[in-house]
Amino acid sequence: MLHGKRILLIISGGIAAYKSLDLIRRLRERGAAVRCVLTESATQFVTPLSVSALSEDRVYGDLFSLTDEAEMGHIQLSRDADLLVVAPATTNIMAKMAQGIGDDLATTVLLATDKDVLVAPSMNVRMWEHAATQANIATLRSRGIRFAGPTEGAMACGEFGEGRMAEPLEIVAEIETYFATSAPLAGRRAIVTSGPTLEAIDPVRYVANRSSGKQGHAIAAALAGMGAETVLVTGPTNEAAPAGVDVQQIESAQEMYDACMGALPADIAVCAAAVADWRPALQGDSKIKKAQGTAPPSIEMVENPDILRALSAAGNQRPALVVGFAAETDNLIDNATAKLARKECDWIIANDVSPETGTFGGDTNTVHLITATGAEDWPEMQKSDVADRLAERIAGHFDQTTEAAQ
Ligand code: C5P
Repeated sequence: MLHGKRILLIISGGIAAYKSLDLIRRLRERGAAVRCVLTESATQFVTPLSVSALSEDRVYGDLFSLTDEAEMGHIQLSRDADLLVVAPATTNIMAKMAQGIGDDLATTVLLATDKDVLVAPSMNVRMWEHAATQANIATLRSRGIRFAGPTEGAMACGEFGEGRMAEPLEIVAEIETYFATSAPLAGRRAIVTSGPTLEAIDPVRYVANRSSGKQGHAIAAALAGMGAETVLVTGPTNEAAPAGVDVQQIESAQEMYDACMGALPADIAVCAAAVADWRPALQGDSKIKKAQGTAPPSIEMVENPDILRALSAAGNQRPALVVGFAAETDNLIDNATAKLARKECDWIIANDVSPETGTFGGDTNTVHLITATGAEDWPEMQKSDVADRLAERIAGHFDQTTEAAQ
């Protein structure tokens, strides 16, 4: 559920901070990456060493530490997270959040972030019930801040009442609900193809191509990161399986076709694989022998199914948005625009794969997004950034179509 999710956990100074150590473990058990920021007073309750050991990351704390700012500024900490969680959230940090005070790293990150924030309050019942606290909570709620707890129970101070921090598993459940319902592509299903296909000549030989799968895998990761239930149908690559993605390994174009058709219905299809256009007509069961004095065999090829076209023509199973790639070496935009029409897909990502661009196997890509309304040039970017931008565009497309339907 939380595979690949990046949580920035802000621990402020309350006795419940000890429960945050367990929260880190629970989140990591579920596949989330947890990066922690401690306030000065939090370090009185838990040590940065324990937090660092459990999160397997360094711990951030001092706003004015030059190395922190150089290596990882407060903006970057927020940028690298999918959700900010403040647990425990003391009455003090909530008051600062409500007033917009940024006087340490934790509160500055909270001011600078454009990500959603979930707070798990923890305080004495009287502090919780105080009019000032309640007014701050109302302010924070009105700004879209989410709350996990507090709950009612016995308190470290000996009193009983509301104000206890929610248990780690209750906070985890809130976080899971958040990702299940709030991610831009939550509830959508995506099929992504990636990598090369291998077309067997005989049991030991095959025809293949130089696709690395980097772009397709990055797209699957980006769509999953935005909450889409993602199936990645991939030929053999050296890329690691993206977290939270259902990876289906195939070899031939026919297997890729079968896996894609079997994965329907879907809302989104992105065909980034370099599918072999042809395969040997006869794939013998035994190795073709090299006999002295005989001519080399000629291999007759037959056409492979066109997966992009088939998905675009899948009738009532057709994904609402079908995106193809056009790897071209000349007349990029014209050829890609013609491909959009020929394949009957909705968008084409056109990229120049002339050898001098280093696109095949490289880490960067310069692409053009071609839709029914024209071509849009994107600057040269890391393949992971192309993937993120495409996923955002896809989410934006579904937002618009949902609005139009309302
Ligand atoms: O026709 P061409 O190979 O240039 O089209 C490229 C696009 O079509 C890519 O999105 C590729 O993944 C897809 N394709 C496919 N099945 C094929 C050939 C290409 O899905 N057999």
